[in-house]
Amino acid sequence: MPGSETVAVTGKKIILGVTGGIAAYKAAELCRLLVKAGADVDVVMTDAARQFVTPLTFQALSGRPVQTSLWDAAQGDGMEHIHLTRAADLLLVAPASADFLAKLAQGRADDLLTTLCLARTCRLAVAPAMNPEMWAAAPTRRNLDRLRADGVAVLGPATGEMACGETGPGRMLEPAELMAALPGLLGAGPLAGKKVLVTAGPTFEPIDPVRGLTNRSSGRMGYAVAQAAAEAGAEVCLVSGPTCLATPAGVRRVDVQSAADMREAVLRELPAAVFIAVAAVADYRAAAAAEHKLKKQGGGLTLELVENPDILAEVAARSDAPFCVGFAAETERLAEHADAKRRRKQLPLLVGNLAQDTLGRADAELVLFDDHGSHFLPRADKLTQARRLIDHLVQRLS
Ligand code: CTP
Repeated sequence: MPGSETVAVTGKKIILGVTGGIAAYKAAELCRLLVKAGADVDVVMTDAARQFVTPLTFQALSGRPVQTSLWDAAQGDGMEHIHLTRAADLLLVAPASADFLAKLAQGRADDLLTTLCLARTCRLAVAPAMNPEMWAAAPTRRNLDRLRADGVAVLGPATGEMACGETGPGRMLEPAELMAALPGLLGAGPLAGKKVLVTAGPTFEPIDPVRGLTNRSSGRMGYAVAQAAAEAGAEVCLVSGPTCLATPAGVRRVDVQSAADMREAVLRELPAAVFIAVAAVADYRAAAAAEHKLKKQGGGLTLELVENPDILAEVAARSDAPFCVGFAAETERLAEHADAKRRRKQLPLLVGNLAQDTLGRADAELVLFDDHGSHFLPRADKLTQARRLIDHLVQRLS
């Protein structure tokens, strides 16, 4: 069976922009994957890109002439920048260098690729690739904020070892990862047209202005679920407690601190077709957070805690309830506790795992509980598990 990216990409017209960076060699593999998935690919290269890879490479892979110059009289009627974008479903720039992003943020149009970006009517996505210091630099941060506000989808970058020998964020996403983001960008995929609301991470319950109660949730599972839903074409809103994770491509993120903030943000985002509560919401908060920093008084301190609202149960009980998915981390008797929780909160689907087996780890073993019984998802990394969960959810929705 073809993957969702193949289904989404077949017959689509994609402009692949390549800018100057060592990751340009990976764009050749991306071009090959796009063509293999059935896309019509027009490659546009900047002058700097041609210092790294030749146009002939992309011409051979795409089966079409490669566009490099705004001024090349031999190319059509001189209106190539208009014609190309009018026919396109997506303009994807990979790799996108720091210099290119700066130009894009300013709306400059001094070569064919930047001109296409300005003249386009289709969706624009960029896959940044640069040295970690360039990625962290204040001007790049500003440019990225501006591009996101302009509706440009920013894919990655990944963190890892760079060609320059340094390690950190700035490496271009792998071609296969970029392919996985395409259904969402093209508005295709089994969840197209559906809003999916996801909660993730821990909550932080203040005790005083500098202290609080929290837990060890990293947010990785929730972020993976948001990414998998976006890959399936959904409009995804991720309501996130404090984490240090990057927002997945094509996902809108709302940052919150406490359970009360999270509840408010979730209710504001309803209605939705699907609600997936992955957050490790603190069950209790301080009865009254102190206005000023608590001082040692000698002796012990008794903190009065009150129960937080159960966001998932509240959403599931609404008359316009979305399809609700809960997560249950148990330390023993998983099936028994998880199924009881599913019935208590009246959820069509609950994902169970053993807490000691999942917390802080990059992989997980999961069991899905629904009206049809239980369904085991053998150990895999969290993104793979999230994709399996979304596949299961799509079946249940239909
Ligand atoms: N949840 C929520 N709001 C809360 C608490 C939990 O939305 N205040 C959601 C979580 O995001 C998760 C599920 O409910 O999807 C977990 O259920 P819960 O009963 O809170 O699990 P535990 O805290 O593990 O419950 P218990 O302590 O009873 O085992």
